[in-house]
Amino acid sequence: MMITVLFAVPDLWADYADVLPSALDAAGIRAQVVQEAEPEVVDYIIYAPSAPLQDFTPFTRARAVLSLWAGVERIVGNATLTQPLCRMVDPSLTESMVEWVVGHALRHHLGMDAQIVNPDHLWNPVVPPLARNRPVTVLGLGALGTACAKALAGLNFPVTGWSRTQKTVPGVRCLSGEDGLRQALTGAQIVVTLLPRTADTENTLNAETLALPARGAVILNPGRGPLIDDAALLAALDGGQIGHATLDVFRVEPLPQDHAFWAHPRVTVTPHIAADTRPESASGVIAENIRRSEAGEPLLHQVDRALGY
Ligand code: NDP
Ligand code: OXD
Repeated sequence: MMITVLFAVPDLWADYADVLPSALDAAGIRAQVVQEAEPEVVDYIIYAPSAPLQDFTPFTRARAVLSLWAGVERIVGNATLTQPLCRMVDPSLTESMVEWVVGHALRHHLGMDAQIVNPDHLWNPVVPPLARNRPVTVLGLGALGTACAKALAGLNFPVTGWSRTQKTVPGVRCLSGEDGLRQALTGAQIVVTLLPRTADTENTLNAETLALPARGAVILNPGRGPLIDDAALLAALDGGQIGHATLDVFRVEPLPQDHAFWAHPRVTVTPHIAADTRPESASGVIAENIRRSEAGEPLLHQVDRALGY
């Protein structure tokens, strides 16, 4: 039987118009991928935050809503959504997050800025420590945090990871719970935040927790803006407790021109580019989930609506 997949994200249609039907075909699924359809004939909905679709009530036949984004905070609380919701776990997205995190960690670890911008041609041979002597903490040990923690451990950084439930990741010291957060942050020299935005994760880095890392520690936030209390971070930067913050995500995006982060000498702003969903590999993930659903197998990456991620 032919199934109907509603691609509800007009601004991304051009990227998926060819690759998604091909991926479905390759998975053995007879499907039409459409931009518009009568709601009652739709079997699956492809969603992203830029989708105009907000009322899922009329989609009585839809068997799942498949997000193109990893973070689902903008849809998870939608009361009209009764269908299962899956977030995106895309191997290429994960790969690019690892590259962003490792790249920015190494920038700070090696003190690259001093050589890249050296207008006075200073010969100042500051030798960085070996990675094995620079503790790194990754908050969040999901698809992205785990991949980043493993990559950093592979470079010999002593890596601690923190998550809601206890994890085991080879080569990574894994902690959980409130005490675990304190232990994970204490003495860290680089802190990476890869938690989802939920009511529980808001302001995970605040005045109290920002005091725990080693003095001069670096914060890398490719997770979500609200994970950090902006005012507390600015105070910690100004007081020297935090040496630098490299931020990819913000409470308001694009980051308003008058926000203090833009002008701060020890803040690097990247415009939410740490890890984009790649249409080709993401289409494979969507096709596999539709195949599973049609075969009566459990969906991959289903969001727990109560937990919010
Ligand atoms: P996952 O859902 O796979 O992992 C989330 C992790 O956070 C899990 O380890 C989870 O713990 C942990 N966690 C959740 N709530 C808490 C809590 N209250 N206390 C402690 N730990 C908690 O997500 P991903 O790794 O796929 O993605 C993480 C986030 O990265 C996304 O939600 C999104 O916000 C962001 N992102 C940013 C991008 C960018 O370009 N900047 C691109 C893609 C994603 P447990 O394992 O116990 O469930
Ligand atoms: C995502 C993101 O959640 O791009 O996928 O931030």
